Amino acid sequence: MACVLVTGGAGFLGAAVVRRLAGRGDRVIALDNFQAGVPANLEGLGCNVGVFGGDVTDLGGLLGLIRQHRVRRIIHAAAIVSTLSSLSAPSHVTRVNIEGTLNVLEAMRLFDVERAVHISSEETYGAFRCEPADEEHPALPTAPYGISKVASEQLGRFYRTVYKTDFINVRTSWVYGPGFPRQRIPRTLIEAALAGRPLHLPRGGDARIDHTYLDDCVDGILLALDHAVHPFDAYNVASGEGRTTAEMVALVKDLIPGADLSVGPGPLWYDDRLVVPPKGALDLTRAKRVLGYRPKYDLCRGLASYIEWYRRGQLPREN
Ligand SMILES: NC(=O)c1ccc[n+]([C@@H]2O[C@H](COP(=O)([O-])OP(=O)(O)OC[C@H]3O[C@@H](n4cnc5c(N)ncnc54)[C@H](O)[C@@H]3O)[C@@H](O)[C@H]2O)c1
Repeated sequence: MACVLVTGGAGFLGAAVVRRLAGRGDRVIALDNFQAGVPANLEGLGCNVGVFGGDVTDLGGLLGLIRQHRVRRIIHAAAIVSTLSSLSAPSHVTRVNIEGTLNVLEAMRLFDVERAVHISSEETYGAFRCEPADEEHPALPTAPYGISKVASEQLGRFYRTVYKTDFINVRTSWVYGPGFPRQRIPRTLIEAALAGRPLHLPRGGDARIDHTYLDDCVDGILLALDHAVHPFDAYNVASGEGRTTAEMVALVKDLIPGADLSVGPGPLWYDDRLVVPPKGALDLTRAKRVLGYRPKYDLCRGLASYIEWYRRGQLPREN
């Protein structure tokens, strides 16, 4: 049976993709250096899943794995994630994210890998100039993380033009849901509310973000992986609605009665150096028309499902 390689397979999105692929009977190998992901995210998945420690910046190791397991398709999720990390460690983030992608592309060329789906980001757009933002929106990222995603996409286009490499970018937005590993809304709001801890965010209430529920994101990634022939190399995969932090706070308070949460006005900040630029909804027309993508979770349903996961006693696993 042909094999799917998931780079960053022990991480939040990578592990969810591995679980879904394994659940439908695909043979999967997960590659991760466990910088952020944890092996426990991949426990109990059965003999069709292999887990390998390794680094995407090690081309020799990547080639060996692909040859040994006759990998035909790749989900490329390995990256140093988040704009915030990229403010403190710009050279590390750009090196891992860009060189890692370049190695995936080289491996595809050398071993005729059929397709890779790269998990890209709406951070490629920078400040939204129009809304909903479609895939033709100018690429003007504001920080090294988004810049590394644009560079990865462009390298994919170079390989497509010269070597006919099928490298597809799924641009998703702020993904949330069971196991989300970093401190970011809505995780911070839900954890405070469930612990009975007051949380008053001084600012950020007016920031509008397209928050994507984990299951919807995985749906979009697998639709892109399975689609026969791609007329485009990039698809927005999100919820399609831009919701303010103030709306999210109100929804969490409805879903967790007694929650002592509030948020002040204004934009969100990554940290004191950089504001989250104006964003909003992503335009899903292309993914709906070409891939048949249909998000199942609006923010209210997604938050309810995420809270339910916590109530079952689950906790995020972190390194
Ligand atoms: N979560 C989001 O909101 C979001 C939004 C847009 C795009 N993305 C993209 O989705 C992908 C997965 O993100 P995530 O949220 O699951 O983050 P994550 O940190 O949970 O997953 C990334 C994984 O890559 C691994 N990794 C890092 N450097 C590596 C290296 N050099 N070699 C091998 N493995 C390495 C980490 O250990 C981790 O398991 C990333 O490419 C990210 O840019 C995520």
